[in-house]
Amino acid sequence: MERRNMLGLVVVTTLMFCSLSDSSRLFNNPERRNLIANGLAATPAMGWNSWNHFYCGHNETTIRETADALVSTGLSKLGYIYVNIDDCWGEIARDDDGNLVAHKTKYPSGIKALADYVHGKGLKLGIYSDAGYFTCSQTQPGSLGHEEQDAKTFASWHVDYLKYDNCDNGGIKPTVRYPIMARALMKAGRPIYFSLCEWGDMQPALWGNQVGNSWRTTDDITDNWITMLARADVNEKYADYARPGGWNDPDMLEVGNGGMKKSEYIVHFSLWAISKAPLIIGCDVRHMTEDTKEILSNAEVIAVDQDPLGIQGKKVRAEGSLEVWAGPLSGYRVAVVLVNRGRRRRAITALWEDIGLHPSMAVEARDLWEHKTLEGHFVGELTATVDMHSCKMYVLKPIG
Ligand code: GLA
Repeated sequence: MERRNMLGLVVVTTLMFCSLSDSSRLFNNPERRNLIANGLAATPAMGWNSWNHFYCGHNETTIRETADALVSTGLSKLGYIYVNIDDCWGEIARDDDGNLVAHKTKYPSGIKALADYVHGKGLKLGIYSDAGYFTCSQTQPGSLGHEEQDAKTFASWHVDYLKYDNCDNGGIKPTVRYPIMARALMKAGRPIYFSLCEWGDMQPALWGNQVGNSWRTTDDITDNWITMLARADVNEKYADYARPGGWNDPDMLEVGNGGMKKSEYIVHFSLWAISKAPLIIGCDVRHMTEDTKEILSNAEVIAVDQDPLGIQGKKVRAEGSLEVWAGPLSGYRVAVVLVNRGRRRRAITALWEDIGLHPSMAVEARDLWEHKTLEGHFVGELTATVDMHSCKMYVLKPIG
């Protein structure tokens, strides 16, 4: 038993050493520092992506109608400006000159025409490629070995955002493959947000902020309570690595896709916001229910995500299924989410000592889902009763 533990220790230490030495090489090599100093992502990206709802079933009409809907629903005014096409937008082979080609029946007008349309609405266009030989759907080539050519193609199409996936990568380390595309984008002559989709394989939080504007810390989300919480938990471990210009990404939103109850989607959205995650909508915004629209449009919760201080919140206390998440905001304020993961209604208390406030500090508490400021002042702690699979979210503001 003891020997097995020892072995475990050796393996873990070796793994840690490997990943740290990889990332420290990236940090120490001056040539590789700030590869992606593109001035983007001062706050986490906000927008929409085709994958979580449409998978491969999208075309240029879907994308145009989505852009229309982002504007007509008011979502774009709230900050959701990126319209991101995920996998399956291209032809299965490059053209004779080695260029990527838009799918001839799904995207007959081409990507540049779509970018023009989206820009005409005051929005930005995102596209998808892969740091491997083929994308994850296996329906189009990846960019490995073609980085400069593809980055130029995307820039010539006036693309504003690249999600860069990790399939079919030939076993080459991501710390080798992703920086090549980062450099290529910087040379392409257009600021392009670089979203690393490396699934957390080699702890991209440790090296991603030199390379991209955000990095997936986890495997793919699916539209259910357990998976969603698991993504939030893994992402939380890397909180110290997020900062303006580069953010941890626990994957795109499932709000509105139908697999969770309203209160669960509220927890999902609240945790993503306090975690300073990119808020990339994953439902069909052309046909949203009122509940979905209400959640995605909560300007007070969005303001937590987009707070200029840019410090990711953490899980500061967990007792069984009851949790307190908290993080500092600008103006000496603090965001708090009280999460009840359990199946019974329970009281949850945020203690000032846990959330970074002086024990004698008096605050005013704003309930971000009720849209009201609680009566009176709070000193030392704040307690709320929270329904099963639900949360309460507050901004606490010091008085005086
Ligand atoms: C991977 C990514 C997903 C999505 C698909 C597309 O699984 O993690 O977000 O882009 O590929 O095939």
